[in-house]
Amino acid sequence: MEALSLISAALTRVVFMALLFFTSHPWPRTEAAKPAQELVKGFEAIPDSTVDSFQTLLADPDGNFSFGFLRVNRTRLSLAVIHRNLSDPVWVSDPTRSASWSGKTRLFFNGSLVITDRSSRVEWSTGTDGDRVVLRNDSNLQVEKTKPSQTVVWQSFDFPSNTLVENQNFTSAMTLVSPNGLYSMRLGNDFIGLYADDSHQMYWKHKALEAKAKIEDGSGPVHIRINPNGYLGMYQRGNTPVDVEAFNSFQRPTTGLLILRLEPDGNLRGYLWDGSQWALNYQAISDTCELPNPCGPYSLCTPGSGCSCIDKQTRPGPGFGGCTHSTQDQSDLCDGAPARFTVLRRNGVEVPFKELREHKTASSSEECEAFCEEKCECWGSVYNNGSGFCYLVNYPIHTMLGVADEGKVGYFKLREGVGKGKRWEVGSTVGIAFVCGTVLVLTVAMGFVGLRVWRRERRVSRILEEDGGLSPGPYKDLGSDSFNSIEMSRR
Ligand SMILES: *[C@@H]1O[C@H](CO)[C@@H](O)[C@H](O)[C@H]1NC(C)=O
Ligand SMILES: *[C@@H]1O[C@H](CO)[C@@H](O)[C@H](O)[C@H]1NC(C)=O
Ligand SMILES: *[C@@H]1O[C@H](CO)[C@@H](O)[C@H](O)[C@H]1NC(C)=O
Ligand SMILES: *[C@@H]1O[C@H](CO)[C@@H](O)[C@H](O)[C@H]1NC(C)=O
Ligand SMILES: *[C@@H]1O[C@H](CO)[C@@H](O)[C@H](O)[C@H]1NC(C)=O
Repeated sequence: MEALSLISAALTRVVFMALLFFTSHPWPRTEAAKPAQELVKGFEAIPDSTVDSFQTLLADPDGNFSFGFLRVNRTRLSLAVIHRNLSDPVWVSDPTRSASWSGKTRLFFNGSLVITDRSSRVEWSTGTDGDRVVLRNDSNLQVEKTKPSQTVVWQSFDFPSNTLVENQNFTSAMTLVSPNGLYSMRLGNDFIGLYADDSHQMYWKHKALEAKAKIEDGSGPVHIRINPNGYLGMYQRGNTPVDVEAFNSFQRPTTGLLILRLEPDGNLRGYLWDGSQWALNYQAISDTCELPNPCGPYSLCTPGSGCSCIDKQTRPGPGFGGCTHSTQDQSDLCDGAPARFTVLRRNGVEVPFKELREHKTASSSEECEAFCEEKCECWGSVYNNGSGFCYLVNYPIHTMLGVADEGKVGYFKLREGVGKGKRWEVGSTVGIAFVCGTVLVLTVAMGFVGLRVWRRERRVSRILEEDGGLSPGPYKDLGSDSFNSIEMSRR
């Protein structure tokens, strides 16, 4: 069962990745004319109602990247930069907001690139006083001043969404956010951190090795940048990196473009454009079970055997569906006194990325559980009877790690009252039984009705024949007329 779910998880992932990165021409070209290479003052555009995915407004000199209106959830609009062979945009103007895909939404350039809604309210603006807008061949959208000299007054590289492109500087003031808004990447004073935003829990940390240069106090924050030679470099001053995180193509001569993205599963992946496709070139987290929530709420991820459920009775739903309790209200347990919850215990459980978590020490699992039980913000605890370490989980339970050591005991609170009868397996079994039953009943009923129609028609045709009138012929479909007549004849 667990092997099966591992295989299906792996398959889902493969299909997902294939869809995401190797679809050729995911953006149908609707415009016949060659797209503009620059936008000047006076430029204005409204979304075209006939476009169903992307409306190009500006292209880079090579025609690889386009800037324009991206249709989101059928009715919404985002300003985005896309690559012709990548189904996710490399940049969106504001990941948290979108405008409406309607003729009343307007984009114009008056020195600022401005998007306004139906009541001419400004939704988003670059807030600049430039002369033109251009899209560089590395996907950087820039507002430039051309007089007295050419200067960049605004660039999309300073406002990344989930993607970093070769040579783009990512500073400690910036954040990469996964497209589903669940995960983020930020820089610390000497490390790169990945965080689950709902729990504020760091789940991956890459600390600078400081092999070639040391980080100096008082020399300002660090920044990172993808080097074309195949690594993610961390810099403090100048061009000597304080850290080099190698990609697969490190020190191998390549001519393609490298990008790094924070993906919906919380992993940070690098891709190399080799001229025809995007190839996976780097992965921050290689073990699936070390991802922040690979199997969903109240699940267990066991290295080598995949996803299962903490309660042993249910199976995790597909995707990040989670277990029994995933449909439950996950608002905290601090909403009123006293908190109502039931308790689930399981041996052979560990907290993931425990080296990034704080712990207490306790003399027994009972003592560890008591720390959690009393605190309404605590959803669970894991006790290691070997080391005496007690980990408290202060957010709704996500995927935990399954381990062989039975001395590691998990204690989990389940919010009471909601979620009854929502068990995935039981629910779906009941559902399937219901559907099968309905089909059976319907088949029997149709058969019965059909038989009656047939008998009746035989009778009718015999009567007609006997009357010497018109025969209705050998066949008659069981259309609504026949049913109506059956209904009528029953009355
Ligand atoms: C451009 O238009 C916006 C919105 O109408 C306005 O706030 C801004 O001042 C204008 N900028 C320039 C340089 O005219
Ligand atoms: C992009 O343009 C710059 C000049 O602006 C050029 O030096 C570089 O080779 C170009 N890169 C690609 C991949 O075409
Ligand atoms: C990134 O920063 C370096 C110096 O820190 C600078 O030379 C380079 O132009 C910056 N790149 C971009 C795309 O802004
Ligand atoms: C851009 O297009 C040129 C050919 O027009 C190609 O050689 C190059 O690899 C492309 N770069 C990207 C990043 O798509
Ligand atoms: C920890 O628990 C396991 C299984 O419950 C038990 O076999 C072992 O003796 C315990 N170890 C200690 C140090 O209490």
